[in-house]
Amino acid sequence: MSGKEVLGVGIAGAGWVATQYVPAFEKNPHTKVVAIMSRRMVSCENLAKSSGLKDVKLYTDYRKLVDDPDVDIVAICSPQHVHVEQAVLAAEAKKHMVVEKPIAISLEQLKAIRDAVRKARVKTVVGFVLRWNPLFETIKSLLAEGALGDVYYIETGYNSHIAEWWSGWKWAKTKEYGVSSFLVAGIHALDAARWLSCKEKEKANNITEVFAYAGGHRYGKEDIGYYGLEVVLAKFENGAIGKINSNFDCANPYYFPVSVFGDKGTVINNRVWAPSKFPGQTDWVTIPTILPDTADVRHHPFEHEVNHFVDCILKGKESHCNVEDAVNTHEAALAAIISYTENRPVKLPLIK
Ligand SMILES: NC(=O)c1ccc[n+]([C@@H]2O[C@H](COP(=O)([O-])OP(=O)(O)OC[C@H]3O[C@@H](n4cnc5c(N)ncnc54)[C@H](OP(=O)(O)O)[C@@H]3O)[C@@H](O)[C@H]2O)c1
Repeated sequence: MSGKEVLGVGIAGAGWVATQYVPAFEKNPHTKVVAIMSRRMVSCENLAKSSGLKDVKLYTDYRKLVDDPDVDIVAICSPQHVHVEQAVLAAEAKKHMVVEKPIAISLEQLKAIRDAVRKARVKTVVGFVLRWNPLFETIKSLLAEGALGDVYYIETGYNSHIAEWWSGWKWAKTKEYGVSSFLVAGIHALDAARWLSCKEKEKANNITEVFAYAGGHRYGKEDIGYYGLEVVLAKFENGAIGKINSNFDCANPYYFPVSVFGDKGTVINNRVWAPSKFPGQTDWVTIPTILPDTADVRHHPFEHEVNHFVDCILKGKESHCNVEDAVNTHEAALAAIISYTENRPVKLPLIK
């Protein structure tokens, strides 16, 4: 900890997701947004104006942001292909950081970011914001109290017709920068499967093996550099099996189904079958809650992610959702590509 009363936040990448991190950090009593960096000055100015920030420094040079002594936390909200470069520089400058997903788009990059964070011993949180979604919190709580027993099977899916409506699509749709459907966005479903198959409160299950297929109908016909559909079968360290998909080719509105099967109970989205918790139940118990049912960043609980992260920094503890933890999720996404390209199961870990 810097010993400062209020930690300064520097935003890198003044686009869509940054519009949520600025108010989240501004609302936290221990942080203040002191600087915004983006490739174009007009983007910095627009974000400062739309967020109502007055005395904020604006940079187009990332080095200036990380070298700014007023910046204690860097929020990396830039496109995926610059995350590692920016994260390594932030780590070297001893800044804590939020790193938006995907944190890396290759195994080499994944090792580079993990090693830089390990070496610098800075605190990190990765933008797997669904870990703070109310439905996920409900399921995690049911798991922790034993109402579902041990999870032996989980299904999660990211189904969203991503296209030009997303400001980040111009980069994300390319093979070079987006790489795959899972890496661009379906990685939320891989992370959800890890998180919701683990009974321990502040822990995610690790994936130990992946087998995958790729398909869909847009690749080769539309301007997208990879298969819109990827389906993974995963083995987890606790013996559970998962079926996880990332589907950019769906015709339907955003849909993120979650099914958790334990040896004592089951959760299908917000419907619960748990006789040890609800003795005598004769039908599914429906929990009124907020489901992960839109891609709109205004709906996502970034405020909770940020509050958790600031708390970790202030208490000097690691987040359950840090870069070290996110390595397994990203390895699974990268292993899926190897699996369907070489038609074989792929064991994790892949980086040493
Ligand atoms: N966790 C979630 O639920 C969630 C949701 C949405 C997005 N994301 C992630 O957040 C990241 C950003 O996505 P987004 O939707 O905000 O995309 P976006 O709207 O395209 O914003 C990214 C901004 O970064 C700026 N930029 C480009 N190159 C840069 C560089 N080298 N250094 C700094 N800034 C640069 C661009 O602005 P200028 O070129 O105009 O300066 C661009 O507007 C992606 O990794 C995405 O996957 C996560």
